[in-house]
Amino acid sequence: MATKQSALFICLGNICRSPIAEAVFQNILKERDLQNDWHVDSAALGSWHVGKSPDRRAMNTIKRHGIEYRHKARQIQKDDFNQFDYIFGKDEENMRELKRLAPTGSKAKLILLGSFDPEGDPIIRDPYYDDGDEGFEKCFQQCVRSINAFLDSLKN
Ligand code: 4NP
Repeated sequence: MATKQSALFICLGNICRSPIAEAVFQNILKERDLQNDWHVDSAALGSWHVGKSPDRRAMNTIKRHGIEYRHKARQIQKDDFNQFDYIFGKDEENMRELKRLAPTGSKAKLILLGSFDPEGDPIIRDPYYDDGDEGFEKCFQQCVRSINAFLDSLKN
């Protein structure tokens, strides 16, 4: 088998959006029988929540869609920019920070995940300060659409 491809999902805290994106990616890989072809992880830009499980509302959203997922937040490291083929940010602020942190000449392609959204909704906004679950479900659906479109784009 060819060497594995790799994808790292990033957001600010690694407790809301990037865990949802990682769980969705793993689930879609399973649906496509590609789980052995990829190494997948998620990480934070900030250090506030390192070692914590995802936000309860993120876990509820993931579970409601029948996906099993566990993760402890970690902060992105310099090495990640050479370990991973793709690093996906969720909003413009994430992308600015990723570009600032990337060592010169590092291998990872830095991509706004929502740029693949066929419904043209490219910013996956931070639902952390919301009262309810709605923003988490919206994030989930944006991730499903964008990740399917991203994987489809690799077939050509
Ligand atoms: P995330 O959401 O980046 O989607 O994990 C956030 C979680 C925590 C904070 C900000 C965003 N925070 O400031 O603590």
